[in-house]
Amino acid sequence: MVSQKKLEGPTVSEDGAELQFAGLISHELRTPLYIIREAMTAVISDQSVTSQEKGKLLSLVDRNTDRLINLVEKLLLFVRLGQPQTDASSAGGKGDVINVREMVHSTIQSLETPGKEPLSAVEVSIAKDVPERLQVCGDSLLVEQALANLLANAFQYGHSASASKCPAVTLIVHTASRGSSVVFEVVDHGEGIPYEEQEPLFRVFYRGQSGRMKRPGGLGLGLSLTRLMIESLKGKIGFRSTPGDGSTFWFSLDTGK
Ligand SMILES: Nc1ncnc2c1ncn2[C@@H]1O[C@H](COP(=O)(O)OP(=O)(O)OP(=O)(O)O)[C@@H](O)[C@H]1O
Ligand SMILES: [Mg+2]
Repeated sequence: MVSQKKLEGPTVSEDGAELQFAGLISHELRTPLYIIREAMTAVISDQSVTSQEKGKLLSLVDRNTDRLINLVEKLLLFVRLGQPQTDASSAGGKGDVINVREMVHSTIQSLETPGKEPLSAVEVSIAKDVPERLQVCGDSLLVEQALANLLANAFQYGHSASASKCPAVTLIVHTASRGSSVVFEVVDHGEGIPYEEQEPLFRVFYRGQSGRMKRPGGLGLGLSLTRLMIESLKGKIGFRSTPGDGSTFWFSLDTGK
């Protein structure tokens, strides 16, 4: 059975959620800060620490500093997206125009990292009736970032144990509602998401079991940010997932027709 989830759960703007959000942020900031302080104290003041151990401690500091920077950058994006819109689209003007095919391919390329999963494993299918140029209600970079987040998750968590299931990830772009919207679907053939994890998936800092097991350094912010990005573009976002049979995360944007 395929489950189609309506997105619910606290967001940053709901009553009481600000306090909860501040608590979560403090918690997330505290862990890497404590690790950095402990490691630096040992490097600076502990005479018994060998130079090899110092090297390990400094790379721990390095990793946790990266984690802090990543966290602060994402929090700044939350603040930016949570503010009343001042861009051209909200002022009655128009937002950016995207070349859909170019955007899809440059987003896939931007995710290529040496030594990581080859992104040639993404099979791209763009329906013929998808317009070459798509007018969006805001910043086109948000569309790229949203797509990149969903693709990254599919690669990180949507792995199939069975090698026969190829390609690893499929990106389907098609139109809906008689051409009035364009839908981007990221399909993976991994383990899917357990039903009890589906409801809280878009909450800030929420991480499911596959997230915690497969990527201990993740923040649990990708999906909540993606949701804010798509909503700020006046689009819709959702997912369906069958445990044991993969997941499809999608978002849709109006074409203005
Ligand atoms: N395609 C997927 N298949 C299975 N689980 C997924 C998938 N996408 C997301 N998840 C689950 O949803 C959780 C939340 O994802 P989200 O992108 O918000 O955070 P994250 O990837 O853990 O961290 P980050 O902030 O670095 O993106 C993940 O930890 C994982 O458990
Ligand atoms: Mg993620």
